[in-house]
Amino acid sequence: MRNVRFGGPGGFIREVRLANTAVADEYPFALPVVRWLGGSGGLALPPGVTFLVGENGAGKSTLLEAIAVAAGFNPEGGSRNFRFATRASESSLGDHLVLRWGVTKPRTGFFLRAESYYNVASEIERLDSTPDGGPPLLTAYGGVSAHERSHGESFLDLVTHRFGPNGLYLLDEPEAALSVRGCMAVLARLAELADRGCQILVATHSPILLALPGATICEIADDGHLGRVDFDDALPVRLTRGFLSNPDRFLRHLFTED
Ligand SMILES: Nc1ncnc2c1ncn2[C@@H]1O[C@H](COP(=O)(O)OP(=O)(O)O)[C@@H](O)[C@H]1O
Ligand SMILES: [Mg+2]
Repeated sequence: MRNVRFGGPGGFIREVRLANTAVADEYPFALPVVRWLGGSGGLALPPGVTFLVGENGAGKSTLLEAIAVAAGFNPEGGSRNFRFATRASESSLGDHLVLRWGVTKPRTGFFLRAESYYNVASEIERLDSTPDGGPPLLTAYGGVSAHERSHGESFLDLVTHRFGPNGLYLLDEPEAALSVRGCMAVLARLAELADRGCQILVATHSPILLALPGATICEIADDGHLGRVDFDDALPVRLTRGFLSNPDRFLRHLFTED
């Protein structure tokens, strides 16, 4: 099952390299994975779906966002036509990445940021920074969980209806919005999109998404090394499998530390 081949041409971005103009010693250039990229000569991106895994803080979002910027997407997310900007938190790494493109260009595309309510939050911040004497809007948005279900549904709508063939899609932790069943639905849709000529790069912690047959999994190690791993060896799969096979063992360990 796992050796299913994607049928479409895909492969819009063939390789991601760090330009030798990138020499700064601070974020994002000091991140181990960015140093690795500089020293390795480049990251080859195959057609179809590539997952990026690694611990929190490994640099997945930094790298994904930089690739999105280098590919011409708005750093805050959306399609390549989106040009709004609410704040400048994006790293300048994108300006120092060199993408090697294949012969065909994507017909469409979308960049989804991990910070699902990013633009809403930015707008709230903007309104709150304008003194109007009223209570902070942010407080009224405290009930974020009330929106979570619709967030998941709207994400499923996005991948089902807005995403189409021969597209380039960059997704940062899409599982943040999704139930287990929702992850399975997205898994099936990603397989379909890959089969229809899409290239999709996904930063994820979801062992369910990682099970996508034929996908490539790239893992960022603690020292920044970025290498391919099999499904069974991928960090989220190993940890989740270990935990679920014996939660008590992990819980005892977690609660007796400190
Ligand atoms: N704007 C920023 N300025 C400085 N450090 C940052 C910034 N954004 C992220 N970082 C740091 O860079 C590291 C990688 O972050 P990120 O790419 O978000 O990791 P991941 O997505 O893998 O969890 C983290 O340690 C984070 O704190
Ligand atoms: Mg992230």
